[in-house]
Amino acid sequence: MKPIQKTWDRLLVSALCLPLAAADWQFRSRPDLAPPRLNISIPAAPSVETGYLFIAPFSSFGDSNSHGPRQAAPYIFRDDGDLVWSGYGYYSIWATNFQKSRWNGKDVLISFEGDHNPGYGHGHGHATFLDQQYETIRELRAGNHKLMDKHEFEVVDETTALIQVYQPVVRDLRRWGGNNQQQWIVDAIFQELDIQTGKVVFEWSSLEHVSPDEAILPLNPGQAGSGFNSSDAWDYFHINSVDKDSDGNYLISARDACSIHKVNGTSGEIIWRLAGKRSDFELGPNVDFCFQHHARFVSQEEDEEIISLYDNSAHGTEDGRGHEVHTHPFSQGKILRLNTKNWTATVVQAFAPPEGYNLLSKSQGSTQLLPNGNVIVNWGSSGALTEYLPNGTAIFHTSFGSGFLGLGVQNYRGYRFNWTGFPNEEPAIVAIQAGAKTGVYVSWNGDTETKTWRFFQTGDDADRYLGETPRTGFETVFWVPAGIQNIKAEAIGADGNVLRTTEEATVEYDGHFENSYGLTQGSLQKPLAV
Ligand SMILES: *[C@@H]1O[C@H](CO)[C@@H](O)[C@H](O)[C@H]1NC(C)=O
Ligand SMILES: *[C@@H]1O[C@H](CO)[C@@H](O)[C@H](O)[C@H]1NC(C)=O
Ligand SMILES: *[C@@H]1O[C@H](CO)[C@@H](O)[C@H](O)[C@H]1NC(C)=O
Ligand SMILES: *[C@@H]1O[C@H](CO)[C@@H](O)[C@H](O)[C@H]1NC(C)=O
Ligand SMILES: *[C@@H]1O[C@H](CO)[C@@H](O)[C@H](O)[C@H]1NC(C)=O
Ligand SMILES: *[C@@H]1O[C@H](CO)[C@@H](O)[C@H](O)[C@H]1NC(C)=O
Repeated sequence: MKPIQKTWDRLLVSALCLPLAAADWQFRSRPDLAPPRLNISIPAAPSVETGYLFIAPFSSFGDSNSHGPRQAAPYIFRDDGDLVWSGYGYYSIWATNFQKSRWNGKDVLISFEGDHNPGYGHGHGHATFLDQQYETIRELRAGNHKLMDKHEFEVVDETTALIQVYQPVVRDLRRWGGNNQQQWIVDAIFQELDIQTGKVVFEWSSLEHVSPDEAILPLNPGQAGSGFNSSDAWDYFHINSVDKDSDGNYLISARDACSIHKVNGTSGEIIWRLAGKRSDFELGPNVDFCFQHHARFVSQEEDEEIISLYDNSAHGTEDGRGHEVHTHPFSQGKILRLNTKNWTATVVQAFAPPEGYNLLSKSQGSTQLLPNGNVIVNWGSSGALTEYLPNGTAIFHTSFGSGFLGLGVQNYRGYRFNWTGFPNEEPAIVAIQAGAKTGVYVSWNGDTETKTWRFFQTGDDADRYLGETPRTGFETVFWVPAGIQNIKAEAIGADGNVLRTTEEATVEYDGHFENSYGLTQGSLQKPLAV
């Protein structure tokens, strides 16, 4: 046996014997990528909103080898589970709250990236903006010598951004059961920043406006921190979302006070409190919520305000530390109507888990109202996402990993957005001969525009047209007869223009690949035009 053959054998043996996680070879042209495989249990109905899914799944386990996702990162997917963009290696460290947004008249991708403290549900880092070429164009940190947390990042009017900070401060906590060593409490801060300059245009502090009396999780036994040091500061409020309305007022969610507050954007005073220990509203059936996330203004009229939120109804840490608190058997997305004349709150629509799904998320979660009236509920630590019709009928459901790689996968927020991507990186190409045929595999991470791939034999003479095939997914394969040695491909857009050309691929040969790849003749390709 020739040495080269031995190497191939060894490679093949290791590929077949290692567990799936290590041999996750979804794309021939991008063997480096191992995106999560969506487990779609309710396939998208025709009535789902147009757009892609934006998620950033991560593992609740420390090891990324034996638990999914293998490559925790921001991702864009289609509804059928086909990958559009892997952000692995674009956003570094730990990334979450990945969204499409707009800044200065341009579509951008934004995400938090930084350190993650799963025991306390805190993050420390910055927000990073990518343009439509997937190049970093801005990083934004908190102002006033504070560290930005992972929970909120929202662009307002394409100009400013809302962020939040968990600021540990020393206070006398004896009134709340602290001994003389328990002196640290978290001041929940939010800031509005000018994105261009990074200047703080507004800052609000919870300790100036909300007493620790309103905490639902007391200092002891310490589910929200025991106050012994700055890392263990009592997170009595745990702010986890900030939104701004056209009047300039803010809506904030306090997970550990089980309440939502409307804040005066000039004075910082609390305009009203919803739920929790000091609710200004009388709560109708199924309005009450606890440990909620992602409160958003929806609409406002004279005496009526509509808001949306994700009601966890459960509390626990992301690393399983401490014990869990449940206030309802399942989590729900909710749209609420608040009457500010007679101070009543009622449910407009609640989105319970689809029939047969038991979803109660002890952390994270989001509820996104879509332009067509549909609603996306992302089940946080339960690692799943559902799209509903406005009346609460589930028309799409997926979890973010399959098989043993699906265990413990979490996703902080999940969204649907339109997006157009023109990657600066080149399309990838690989040609592998298997028996009498050669499979030419092409992909272009993040490209949304290619409709057709066109193939050419290259060599000393002019390029020879081999044929073309519609794009079939993240990766497309085209079959040519064996013997062609050098091949390149063109990515063709909807109007027939060449978007980009690949490098020239030289055919790799080995008969063993036929079995390990499970190669089959592509059914969509046009006959060879030779
Ligand atoms: C902070 O306090 C917690 C709870 O008592 C303890 O587990 C942790 O080790 C302390 N950290 C430091 C840096 O002292
Ligand atoms: C907000 O505060 C300003 C300044 O104190 C006040 O003039 C305004 O009426 C307040 N707005 C609301 C909605 O309470
Ligand atoms: C409060 O006002 C709304 C809107 O006028 C009305 O539908 C509702 O019945 C009132 N609730 C109570 C308890 O009066
Ligand atoms: C929800 O709306 C859809 C589409 O209009 C309809 O087919 C379905 O019956 C409705 N479901 C309920 C529970 O009203
Ligand atoms: C996919 O999700 C369904 C519903 O949650 C679950 O029953 C099934 O085990 C999952 N399948 C895989 C392969 O993970
Ligand atoms: C995507 O664009 C289509 C067409 O303009 C629009 O109907 C749809 O509401 C958009 N989807 C989202 C999620 O914004």
